[in-house]
Amino acid sequence: MLDKYNRNINYLRISVTDRCNFRCVYCMPEEGVPLMKHEDILNFDEIFEIAQTAVGLGIEKIRITGGEPLVRRNIIELISRIAKIPGLKDFGMTTNGVYLSKYAQELFDAGLQRVNISLDTMNPEKFNKITRVGNIDEVLKGIEAAKNAGLNPIKINCVIEKSENETDAVEVAKYCKENGLQIRYIREMDLEKGYFWQVKGGEGGACNICNRLRLTSDGKIRPCLFSDLEYDVRKLGAEKAILLAIGEKPERGTINNTNKFNNIGG
Ligand code: 5AD
Ligand code: SF4
Repeated sequence: MLDKYNRNINYLRISVTDRCNFRCVYCMPEEGVPLMKHEDILNFDEIFEIAQTAVGLGIEKIRITGGEPLVRRNIIELISRIAKIPGLKDFGMTTNGVYLSKYAQELFDAGLQRVNISLDTMNPEKFNKITRVGNIDEVLKGIEAAKNAGLNPIKINCVIEKSENETDAVEVAKYCKENGLQIRYIREMDLEKGYFWQVKGGEGGACNICNRLRLTSDGKIRPCLFSDLEYDVRKLGAEKAILLAIGEKPERGTINNTNKFNNIGG
């Protein structure tokens, strides 16, 4: 469906949880974030209904995000329900990769097509420092499992400070090349300061061609990552919330004071 600025809104990112097993320095404070109340989190029936309504309104591409989506209980069940929605053409997930060694095959069998995995460095100590708790070997095993399961393409999200020539990024790029993975460079952003950048090798961050909506884990449709606008699905119903979000999608982003990455899923 076209918005006021002639952008075809055909992409919905669904955050299924605000929780994560990592504490990446650019995403979460060390102590974690105040978690949402259980009853505020959408259940699978609600998420499925929103996804189905969205596809009916022209969404063709869905990405499951978090927090870390694979920490949500019974996530495979939700994946298999969404994968069967007629008219859905592209179905992916963004994950930190840890649980892929356990779930990659089940995800693929349930109908997930592809995954984006975060990896900012090949250095085990640095990886642990960035994620505060992560073990790089688990992620590398997860990437291997995703490949073996048939998930394709596999894209690596590499957060950089300023340039893709930084040592860490160069090493991640080399690993990607050797392993048949696509790399996307994401410059570190600050939602509250309104610092945002285009994703190199990806399609995020270009306001004039932005085709996406986001669903937060507590049921708000957000038309722009860099804006506080949101429409509550539980109050408005899925169709109305989606139509309002498309209708009011800003021409370009400014500042977001109410959401961190961990709730909105990047
Ligand atoms: N700036 C840029 N990227 C971020 N991510 C999380 N927080 C930030 C930030 N402040 C990225 C993660 C992950 C994706 C979901 O968002 O690296 O790949
Ligand atoms: Fe978790 Fe991803 Fe945030 Fe890291 S960036 S803390 S893996 S949600």
